[in-house]
Amino acid sequence: MYDFTPKQLELQKKVRAFVKEYIDPIAKESDATGVLPLSVFKAWSEAGLACLVAPKRVGGPELDAVTCTMIMEELGYADLGVATAFGANNLCSYPVLLAGTPDQQKKHFRPLLTGNYGSFALTEPNAGSDAGAISTTARRDGDEYVINGIKCFITQGGVAATYVLFALTDKSKGSKGMSAFIVERDRPGLSTGKVEDKMGIHASNTVELILENVRVPASHLLGKEGDGMKLAMMSLDAGRLVVAAQAVGVAQRAMDECVEYAKKRMDNGKSLTDQQAVSFKIADMATAVEAGRLLVYHGAMLKAAHRSYSKNSAIAKLFCTDMAMQVARDAMEIMGTYGYTKDALIEKIWRDARILSIYEGTNQIQRIVIANAVLR
Ligand code: CAA
Repeated sequence: MYDFTPKQLELQKKVRAFVKEYIDPIAKESDATGVLPLSVFKAWSEAGLACLVAPKRVGGPELDAVTCTMIMEELGYADLGVATAFGANNLCSYPVLLAGTPDQQKKHFRPLLTGNYGSFALTEPNAGSDAGAISTTARRDGDEYVINGIKCFITQGGVAATYVLFALTDKSKGSKGMSAFIVERDRPGLSTGKVEDKMGIHASNTVELILENVRVPASHLLGKEGDGMKLAMMSLDAGRLVVAAQAVGVAQRAMDECVEYAKKRMDNGKSLTDQQAVSFKIADMATAVEAGRLLVYHGAMLKAAHRSYSKNSAIAKLFCTDMAMQVARDAMEIMGTYGYTKDALIEKIWRDARILSIYEGTNQIQRIVIANAVLR
């Protein structure tokens, strides 16, 4: 079981107040326009939350996994697009936390802690689920690496100041030849391509990155040549827990929206909640949300205690993301035609929720991770 500490509860209050002041007023507009005002991220940054995992020695809050999970659940409840955008700074920071030298950590976290976004650049047009199949290369040339390739579906890639990017330093070794680099946005040869027009999470930005003879100093290599695949996998272990937390927030919001509507909506002189078919469905939603929340915080507690949590993070993502979609679907069903209109928040929640079982490893990938852990 988990219980938040007074400090965590204080932070939860602060995040809820932030959501009310900054996110609630722009959520609908951001969904319609695809623009998340920079002022909202600046305010998040000024609140000291721009990069939750940044170490104290570089000026970050260095929050533990349970606290990060709690914050991501709150953001998921508020707006999954904003949660996705704000979460990008954490995902791209894990490889630097795992393998970065003190100098690299300073270089990486400085922009992230001063109102800038960072991105995790792994996926490519021919390497999504099979992350080890990337073809972007990084060729050593004296004191530099020269990077060439294309990355796609990069969250916050169009607005990021810095990337942690994965490339092959030795093509002949496949995924064992993958390495991770810090690459700043303003490097000559780096440009953004297609901006994705997504079904939901419109507040987040998703783009293609094009790298044409991009030169970075050799000192931008994280860890050793060949460490990239492990760093990516370990980072995704952490990221998947975050996605699961967002999913719990999304599911809770879907249920709350539905309950509020069902209590007020009269049908043949009775409230919807007087119908057992409706109240039972709501009972099932509440059960599913609670079960998911326990899985997420169990995984977070293992991570915070520096225990093995890869399997638990995959289990949490698998369960919570499918659960969020199911709860959003059932909530919309109860809310009927109104739920299908743009006036109802559930319409946006349902569109947003669809990404959860897809990004940071589809749920089929989570099954591979879980099965490998169980069967090895
Ligand atoms: N921790 C540490 N090391 C790990 C690990 C983990 N969790 N998982 C794997 N590894 C290591 C393995 O030990 C292995 O090392 P050795 O070669 O030294 O033995 C190496 O990594 C390769 O592992 P596998 O042989 O298991 O790799 P695989 O090629 O079979 O692939 C996979 C495994 C689980 C399918 C992996 O490819 C995967 O996770 N795919 C999904 C990729 C993904 O999640 N992409 C999301 C992109 S990011 C995103 O969506 C963010 C965004 O912008 C929204």
